[in-house]
Amino acid sequence: MAKIRILDYPDLKLKRVAKKVTVVDDEIKTIIADMFETHYATENCAALAATQLDLPNPPAITVIDFSEQKNEPLCLINPEIIHSEGEQLEYEGCMSVYPDHLHERVKRAACVTVKALNEQGETIEFTAEGFMAKCLQHEIDHLNGLTYLDRLSPLKRERIVDKIRRLKK
Ligand code: NI
Repeated sequence: MAKIRILDYPDLKLKRVAKKVTVVDDEIKTIIADMFETHYATENCAALAATQLDLPNPPAITVIDFSEQKNEPLCLINPEIIHSEGEQLEYEGCMSVYPDHLHERVKRAACVTVKALNEQGETIEFTAEGFMAKCLQHEIDHLNGLTYLDRLSPLKRERIVDKIRRLKK
């Protein structure tokens, strides 16, 4: 297993769209293992998407675990939101966007139903709300080349980009 470098905003690689996984083979399983290793080695990490990692041609995979004991790993392959409902406005941070400095409220659906493949390549479908719903939307955005900054109003985004410029000095 190996840790993979997490890309930092504004790395243009964060805009890549993930490649759909057609078969869960050994190569994909190795990437999943490396993603979990990277996740658990990163402080305060709730989830990672393959597109925010320095991988060539990242596949559509996200690994999630925000349990206190870090013992509830959830891996989703080709995840898509097939239904969403309600609204929430909660703080989000991102391992690729100055996680120690930036947290912003992002408008998301309160409840989402997600369809995906699990690590065994079986189709699964489930509904989540609250933090998990927020997390799923954040990660699926990553797989489509979006960060949470893309979900902010232009004015708010401009303010954050200014703040990032100051942080980089
Ligand atoms: Ni993120």
